[in-house]
Amino acid sequence: MRDPFRAICDDDLERRWIWISLILAFVMGGVLGLYAIGNNVHPPSNVETIDSTRLHLSEEFAEDNLGVKENPDGSLTVTMVAARYGFYPPVIEVPTDTPVKIRVASADVLHGFHVPFTNAATMVVPGYISEVNTSFPRPGNYSFLCNEYCGLGHDSMWSRLVVVPKTSETAAATSEGDNNS
Ligand code: CUA
Repeated sequence: MRDPFRAICDDDLERRWIWISLILAFVMGGVLGLYAIGNNVHPPSNVETIDSTRLHLSEEFAEDNLGVKENPDGSLTVTMVAARYGFYPPVIEVPTDTPVKIRVASADVLHGFHVPFTNAATMVVPGYISEVNTSFPRPGNYSFLCNEYCGLGHDSMWSRLVVVPKTSETAAATSEGDNNS
């Protein structure tokens, strides 16, 4: 087969290196792709806008409506506000192996939302509602943190995620549910 790069390059050694660099780039791209598929990593795709300066006046992100809510199908929706320098509510409790939809809005500047060792990671851009769909297979205490520099307190902007074994799901949902009535 005739080398297609012969048209742009006469030197054998140089063409060999063109091939090597192309193959390397494809191998590395492929590794990234397989890693992303294997770990269920995907970019957040939710586009929903909100007026960040009036979050407290919106129904969903009003202070009394934040937290964990159980949906009729048994999945959970977590509503949170990210603001300098914390997430509200500061502690979220969810059961294991339950689909969790996390909806976060920023009350001021750009923040990030990241639960280490999970696929839950998104930017929280003011003016938009960020959404992450995930579930947590292992019980434990996790920290979720802001991973976009947002000011002097950025380093201390993190909160707690408590994942409890699924049996106590109803207890968790009910106690959090009190906030919603
Ligand atoms: Cu919020 Cu960094």
